[in-house]
Amino acid sequence: MCGIIAYRGHKSNAARMVLEGLKKLEYRGYDSWGVAARTEEKKGGVETPDIFIHKKIGKIGELNLSELSLPRSNLAMAHSRWATHGGVTVKNAHPHASLEKDIVIIHNGIVENYLELKKELIKNRYEFVSETDTEVAAHVIHSEYAKCGDLEKAVLNALKKFTGRYAFLVMSKKHDMLIAARRGSPLIVGKGENGDYFVASDIPAFRAHTDEVMYLDDEEMVVIDESGARFMDLKKNKEVTKRLVKITWDTKEAEKGAFSHFMIKEIMDQKETIHRAINQDEKLIKKVAQAIDKAFGTYLVGCGTTGKVCMVGSYLFSRIAHKHINVEFGSEFPNFRHFIRKGSLFVAVSQSGETADTLEAMEVAKEKGAKLMALVNVEGSSMDRLADISIYQKAGPEKAVASTKATTAQMAILTLIAYACAGNIVEGKKLLLETASLINDMLNPRYEDHIRTLAEKIKDVESMYVIGRGMNYPMALEGAIKLQEVSYIHAEGFAGGELKHGPIALITKGTPCIALVANDEMKNEILSNAIEVKARGGFIIGVSPTNEEVFDYWIKVPDVGNASPIVNIIPVQILAYHLALLRKNDPDMPRNLAKSVTVK
Ligand code: M6R
Repeated sequence: MCGIIAYRGHKSNAARMVLEGLKKLEYRGYDSWGVAARTEEKKGGVETPDIFIHKKIGKIGELNLSELSLPRSNLAMAHSRWATHGGVTVKNAHPHASLEKDIVIIHNGIVENYLELKKELIKNRYEFVSETDTEVAAHVIHSEYAKCGDLEKAVLNALKKFTGRYAFLVMSKKHDMLIAARRGSPLIVGKGENGDYFVASDIPAFRAHTDEVMYLDDEEMVVIDESGARFMDLKKNKEVTKRLVKITWDTKEAEKGAFSHFMIKEIMDQKETIHRAINQDEKLIKKVAQAIDKAFGTYLVGCGTTGKVCMVGSYLFSRIAHKHINVEFGSEFPNFRHFIRKGSLFVAVSQSGETADTLEAMEVAKEKGAKLMALVNVEGSSMDRLADISIYQKAGPEKAVASTKATTAQMAILTLIAYACAGNIVEGKKLLLETASLINDMLNPRYEDHIRTLAEKIKDVESMYVIGRGMNYPMALEGAIKLQEVSYIHAEGFAGGELKHGPIALITKGTPCIALVANDEMKNEILSNAIEVKARGGFIIGVSPTNEEVFDYWIKVPDVGNASPIVNIIPVQILAYHLALLRKNDPDMPRNLAKSVTVK
């Protein structure tokens, strides 16, 4: 979703620095961008502060920053907008300013009561140029500022009026000061050298400048000026000291290197990431397994692709540990709050650790007294900090909007925990180590070519289907998400057995149908379902350890028993990527989507 980056310090190229930082947040998905920089120019011999604002529709990635004439400045902020309130226009892009740029803000999230506040402001003669809730927030801060002339107090008073989840960055032409506040949307403060500070929605935005960060928690605010950074707990209305955390991943991990897109780089990273994911402290995995054993109901909760991983998890726990685990999408979980009580275990699964729906579900579970666990890729993320226990996916930064390596890392860890629950962590680890090494062999250039050839054959189809049974059923759903996200081909996933209850009516001559096959007790049944599709003219793509007569095109995967969902999804990821390229789509930044979905 929206990307935020700001800088205040001793350097005079702040505008350029924040725009460079914004480029590093491109992967989050957005439709317009903008920058604001505070300047102090001599007018008639007097230093006169002003704020330079520049906004544009489209992507910043290709822009050569030297083409922009940016002013000298030591305080600047930039924003990439994923439209929520109002269309994609320059007027709706951030930053938004209130009267005479006394207040300039950028914002992530939603001010839910903005219409109510807007009515009040209109009565007080405020005028609006955009349709956004952000401009309303800027005017609310301004109206408070007009009363007290104190920027910090004005922001504090205004925040009390807003409902919803958000992150704000505020500056004013009258003060050499940056204020940031969060409730629900991530904000991280980077501490540079010589009193330099950065504030961003994600670390890659300023990672080139520092590896020392402090995380803002919900209901916290930071004020950055020449005396440094002061943190405030807004609920307790007092100053707090933040812990300085060192970032361990280096900048190269978050770059494309020799690959043309992050998506294919991250698919290929899976040669290593499964191995890394299962390299966990055994004591921690056993502790989690015990918590599941003792829990009064365990809930695996995630959204989108991660939600499908949670579904795979429930099959794995049933198969391997004979344990029933509940699964819910983050957005639907609050409907089941009635079953949560002290003793329940809530497991949030998330790549980013920031997905609003999952985070809110976690808060609901916390309120009801559940124990909270987070299985996240981003250390220090909101879910990580809210949880009682965290396990890290260790997939490294995932930047393509379409999740690939985090997905398989999550599944590997859930498989390991399921084996630990069955008292057999050693067997689980052995299976996963073998799987990791077989994936390393599988991901070679010939394999990718074989899938690219398939993509060429089917690139112009209107619809495609993915089927699976058992633990490969959720992967059929996930395969369809991958195809939808980047190829924009209409794709749907089904449980193989469900086809004949309706969806088979959609099959016409040549319709591609991917069958995800494992060498398990479901094999004959899923092959029968593939035969049923073929009998109606379907073109069967088999993802399977062995070639079968029904397949029109076979993509071989290793035979890895309970790790089959991990290997079966990888060829679909590669297929989706190549379909995207052949259809001239940008696989890293698909239309309408954002990497980290921080609004509900
Ligand atoms: O960061 P999370 O794992 O919580 O994200 C959840 C979903 O938004 C995410 O998996 C989404 O479905 C991906 N774009 C799928 O590729």
